[in-house]
Amino acid sequence: MKIRTEVELDRNAIYALNRAAFESDAEADLVEALRLQADPHISLVAEEAGEIIGHIMFSPATLSSDSEIPVIGLGPMAVLPGRQHQGIGSALVQAGLEACKKLGYQAVFVLGHPQYYPRFGFVLASRYDISSVYDVPDEVFMAFELVPGALVGKAGEMHYHPAFEGL
Ligand SMILES: CC(C)(COP(=O)(O)OP(=O)(O)OC[C@H]1O[C@@H](n2cnc3c(N)ncnc32)[C@H](O)[C@@H]1OP(=O)(O)O)[C@@H](O)C(=O)NCCC(=O)NCCS
Repeated sequence: MKIRTEVELDRNAIYALNRAAFESDAEADLVEALRLQADPHISLVAEEAGEIIGHIMFSPATLSSDSEIPVIGLGPMAVLPGRQHQGIGSALVQAGLEACKKLGYQAVFVLGHPQYYPRFGFVLASRYDISSVYDVPDEVFMAFELVPGALVGKAGEMHYHPAFEGL
């Protein structure tokens, strides 16, 4: 399996993969919107034998407490049903976090499965008194400091890229 940045030829496969994993068009459409609207964005695929079996996307986000701090949102991410629980998602998250760090982002946020993301070092965003604008349980909104201490003193709201408003 290889993790690499998406290329134009991957787009249909990425759309189909997100649709299959989420059983909905919504996340697949969000990926398309982010690709067009979010600059920069990170879009990585897991490829095996020429097939796209996993995908992860990151897009710039903002903190209400500090409009200058570079933070980024993780999502959507998806692994092909039938290929889940084989470490593909983990490899995508790890490669993605490295890519975010290289681009100079200081922290990553995610809304997702509370049993999944802590294994990569994510903690509850509420630890920093940072909330999402979505009405979700505390434990699904998590943050990861790429620069230790980056989120200290940044209490407030985190806003995903505006493309998420269409979700
Ligand atoms: C979540 C997802 C991306 C994980 O990818 P993966 O390749 O299966 O993940 P890994 O193999 O690296 O890790 C597996 C772990 O993910 C966690 N996990 C997977 N799906 C989960 C789910 N629906 N709810 C909670 N945890 C989940 C489990 O803890 C699992 O651990 P286990 O194998 O010990 O049971 C994948 O299951 C998926 O595409 N799900 C459908 C779409 C989705 O929910 N996307 C994420 C939105 S936050």
